[in-house]
Amino acid sequence: MNDPSATHAVLQGRSLQVASFAEWREAARELLRAGVPPEAVTWGSPGDDLFSGAPAPGTPPHNAAIQLQEPKPAPHLPRSLLEMLQTAACYREPERWAFLYRVLWRWQQGEHDVQSPADPDGARLHAMVKAVRREEHDMHAYIRFRERPIETGAPRFVAWFEPRHDVLPQVAEHFVSRMGKVSWMIATPDASVLWDGHTLHNCGPLMSSAADLDDSGEALWLTYYRSIFNPARLNTSVMQSHIPSRFWKNLPEGALVPSLVSQAGLGARRIGQVQAVGRRSGATIPIAPEDAQPERQQPSKLDECRRCELWQHATQAVGGAGPKRAKIMIVGEQPGDQEDLAGAPFVGPAGKLLDRVFEQAGLDRQTVYLTNAVKHFKWEPRGKRRLHKTPVQREIEACHYWLEKELAACKPKVIVAMGATALKSVMQSGKVTLGDKLGRPVRHGDSWVVTIYHPSYVLRVPDEASKQEAFSVMVKGLRLAQELLERPDVPESP
Ligand code: URA
Repeated sequence: MNDPSATHAVLQGRSLQVASFAEWREAARELLRAGVPPEAVTWGSPGDDLFSGAPAPGTPPHNAAIQLQEPKPAPHLPRSLLEMLQTAACYREPERWAFLYRVLWRWQQGEHDVQSPADPDGARLHAMVKAVRREEHDMHAYIRFRERPIETGAPRFVAWFEPRHDVLPQVAEHFVSRMGKVSWMIATPDASVLWDGHTLHNCGPLMSSAADLDDSGEALWLTYYRSIFNPARLNTSVMQSHIPSRFWKNLPEGALVPSLVSQAGLGARRIGQVQAVGRRSGATIPIAPEDAQPERQQPSKLDECRRCELWQHATQAVGGAGPKRAKIMIVGEQPGDQEDLAGAPFVGPAGKLLDRVFEQAGLDRQTVYLTNAVKHFKWEPRGKRRLHKTPVQREIEACHYWLEKELAACKPKVIVAMGATALKSVMQSGKVTLGDKLGRPVRHGDSWVVTIYHPSYVLRVPDEASKQEAFSVMVKGLRLAQELLERPDVPESP
């Protein structure tokens, strides 16, 4: 026995209250060293009344003599068992500490099959670990942070969750690594954690239900949820088994689901299928008209478009903006990060630069129709940012369907193509290059087409002189577009 006085203290109090795995581990090592068998100890958590209720089977009366076993050094546990014990310690049930001590004791006695799922204690240990891991997964998946108005000292994002097990600390670590320096709080009925951008603070219970949350910021999430909901792939029983109903009440999209499901039943499923497998680009095989299938139905709303895959990772489709019969239509490439969130074209940095070009060219932004060749944001992750990725010809062609509709409705006299993607879409050619057309007006159908740089190119040019030069090409292009409004229509140029 290493430290008789410590052991004495343990034996005196055979009722132990522990609040964490670390405390349990400390106490358990001391008990093992003293040779105290599991049935001689009553374990509890702070707040438990250890002397009420029936004792666990096999527990001797509280003042009965304890049959100590030969003291042994604390065992060296394999890492896998230690990790299992640590995970199982998060499983909420009053008996957990006693059970973990029994496992530990048996291991020390040489019963190593206590770690096996074939052993009754081992099976229970495995089940506890599985349940805790599942709860961690569910909390990662179904927690919803809601953005709050900026106030000094208050966290920017707040989430409410009702976990079944004590998984808040590890889930908080997960979000610390995911959410960077932005401040957030996760509240649960028993405890809350606050991340101030630098340090994680453990707080007591601060909220009593999801109703204490402010709902601002939720509209954005709902827009996103509606856009990813695919009625053609609806399978309600799978949906219910994937998202257990206990989470629905705290999920903002929970309120949307019943109506989306019933719309699916009322025909959206069939339309969704048609859209999903509808026109796909690829080789064209000529067939006799009498053998042809009727043409598939095309999407009637931009947000329902599935003509290429870009919709899958975008928040929403971004259509054009401006007067429906504007004389000048300006076409960009595709919405950027901010446009994707706002649902409007040219509201981010490229839009700000474009505003300066408008000003220099004496053109009022409100009088032109602004749109993009591709309507969904194509991006790739880079750390925590979504980086723009240039659309490929197949995606430009798929989305030309929408530009065509905008052109037919607007009938602009002049189309300004900003950058190569816009030019390819407007001219319906994957071969045309910016160098071919820059600054030279060409006739295309009933419109003039003026080609200028894309504002993002101007933002990217490294040296100041070239930046100025590219900026002035844009300004000249918009001045030319206004002059062309006055020019009589002439036949298409070569
Ligand atoms: N770039 C574009 O081409 N379009 C936008 O709407 C924003 C950035």
